[in-house]
Amino acid sequence: MQITPELLSQPIVAQWGVWLPAPAKINLFLHVVGRRPDGYHLLQTVFRFLDCGDRLRFGPRQDGLVQRVNDVPGVPAEQDLCVRAARLLAEAAEVRGLAVGGATIEVDKRLPMGGGLGGGSSDAATVLLALNQLWQTGFSNDELQALGLQLGADVPVFVGGRSAFAEGVGEALQSLSLPPAWYAVVVPPVSVPTPVIFSAEELTRNSPRVKISDFAGLVAAHEFGRNDLQAVAVSRYPEVAEALAVLAQVANSESGLLAPPRMSGSGACVFAACGSASVAQNVLSSALAKLPSGSSGFVAQGMDVHPLVASS
Ligand code: C5P
Repeated sequence: MQITPELLSQPIVAQWGVWLPAPAKINLFLHVVGRRPDGYHLLQTVFRFLDCGDRLRFGPRQDGLVQRVNDVPGVPAEQDLCVRAARLLAEAAEVRGLAVGGATIEVDKRLPMGGGLGGGSSDAATVLLALNQLWQTGFSNDELQALGLQLGADVPVFVGGRSAFAEGVGEALQSLSLPPAWYAVVVPPVSVPTPVIFSAEELTRNSPRVKISDFAGLVAAHEFGRNDLQAVAVSRYPEVAEALAVLAQVANSESGLLAPPRMSGSGACVFAACGSASVAQNVLSSALAKLPSGSSGFVAQGMDVHPLVASS
């Protein structure tokens, strides 16, 4: 997998035919604090965006149809969150009496699937944000977040467009400014299905609730809390355990790390937060040299604002 970090400091206005970013996220911590009657888990987490991710571009159609124009291995078009997001927006527009022309969607998939980096959710959010502009459907950001929640628990934070402290299933958001950091992200050669981790019997589901004030403004923000999903992923996926162990070993011999390595989301990716891009690059190179072939990784800078939302 080739991931090219893109520095996306300028707000972006959606245009037909222009590649638009769908950034990755990591979870700086993730606590499971309960479970809803429908089985979904109540979380407390901090989402941070990265300055790398997938890219999407859109073409106009006049026949009202939504069509993905490229193959994405392992994701049939009809199940793709991108296609479902576009159709959901078109249906919501129709309810309001707005006619939309349709769209073609091309997805340049760079983020791993089952990686815990929010790739599919971010793609869906970019579809909602971009087509709301391109179709001139005029939904507010809150309305788009509500549509996004129907597609997945991680979609609203990408639509909201700010790094955030999240509660509920991930949809109750309070935006945050986070300290600068560069992340060495290791992608183990395995895909972790989120439901497998959340349905594990041994998962800790009763972490004590924290307050945003416990976290916000902390200099040692990256050391706060833990990822409750990590122990389950480590025990079931040796590739995740090995990536974490190697990253921890490398981290011990490097100065400039902000916290011990951690897993993002439900895995498989693990990351080390570093004080500079060069430290992160050293950590990544040393870790990949010790890991079996098939492992990959990248360095990305933390970003607090989604470039598509900065423009709206
Ligand atoms: O929302 P999303 O489709 O990403 O979630 C995938 C699965 O992960 C859900 O079907 C559910 O089993 C589990 N999940 C959960 N609690 C959450 C988020 C996801 O139990 N807050």
